Amino acid sequence: MRFPLPEFVGNALEHAQVFDPRGHTRNLRVYKALAGPVLRGLIRKEGKQGDTTVMKHESTTTFSWTYLRDRPELERLTKAARKGQWSPEDLDWARVVDPEDPACELFSDEELPLSEIPGYRSLSAKRQRAQRADMLSWMLSQFLHGEQGALYAACQLTEAVDCFDSKLYGSTQVVDEGRHVEVFCRYLDEKLEKRYAINDNLFVVLDAVVNDSRWDLKFLGMQILVEGLALGAFGTMRNATEEPLLIDLLGRVISDEARHVHFGVVALQELYRHLSPSELREREDWAYEVCLMARNRFLAHEFYEENYGHAMSLREWDRLIQGSRFMARFRHTLFRRIVPNLKRIGLLSKRMRPHYAALGLLDYEFGKAAPDLALQELLDAA
Ligand SMILES: [Fe+2]
Ligand SMILES: [Fe+2]
Repeated sequence: MRFPLPEFVGNALEHAQVFDPRGHTRNLRVYKALAGPVLRGLIRKEGKQGDTTVMKHESTTTFSWTYLRDRPELERLTKAARKGQWSPEDLDWARVVDPEDPACELFSDEELPLSEIPGYRSLSAKRQRAQRADMLSWMLSQFLHGEQGALYAACQLTEAVDCFDSKLYGSTQVVDEGRHVEVFCRYLDEKLEKRYAINDNLFVVLDAVVNDSRWDLKFLGMQILVEGLALGAFGTMRNATEEPLLIDLLGRVISDEARHVHFGVVALQELYRHLSPSELREREDWAYEVCLMARNRFLAHEFYEENYGHAMSLREWDRLIQGSRFMARFRHTLFRRIVPNLKRIGLLSKRMRPHYAALGLLDYEFGKAAPDLALQELLDAA
């Protein structure tokens, strides 16, 4: 007779890979900082337990009484951000998006990992189209949840940072992130009519960023890692879809995100020059652990449960998705923005290089921080 496993054991088994010590930094300080987020995200699945998740944490508010404007690069970025503002109403929401219409192809098979799943190949064209639309909803839902995290992180950063130019820039980012939450939510609700819950691993990263009391880790986690990942993912999706409203939406969001990433680089480059070796080591290991989670763990389990949970084991699903050509391409685009920025802020040290090399990520170290599109134009105009 088989007894059902207690839920938390099942959840731990689902994420067993995360507890495998191979390839990790073994930095106990970093493990301590990430233990709470891992417990809440992977074991308790707090992101899926109701309509809200409340995070109580220590926060810092730093008033600046000098109001000193001594960072010309940030001043220029703030001007660029104000010039680059747009409204969700500027998008053509009247455009019809019908995932069931063969003439309205949201994504082709080549752009998704589904065609590498045997069960998908035996479906009717109509069911395949429906699953492609669901996979798009899953991805856009994760963008939406990530944007909500970015909104709160931007609020916290604006409050905590001591540099007045950073506070003024941060105020523009808060407006940007609010707009991003609105447009992704509206696209999902009105055009795809479906939303997925937050991925457990994304929850861990957002929890780690929001709950850590050190403001530079919020910068590192949100501006460099999450926003860098988002830039890669948005760019991939924009190139893959033929749907005009989505192309327009993503193009506008990408130009905002390029500024946000640039802000993180400018702020941290200066700060990380003055950290002690042990403080710097902790940041290096923390960033690497978060990269590892992003690289190995965004495997659409919420989509799997709905569509393939009855047909194959989770392990089999992970194996198929991780080994797919799509994931190989996707990892490439995800990290081509992050790795150059880690190098710029001084976290791609000699000690860390073999770790990134083992993941095949060092190829990107001389790449661009953000797409030229928008950022340079805006900076030049400001
Ligand atoms: Fe955003
Ligand atoms: Fe952002």
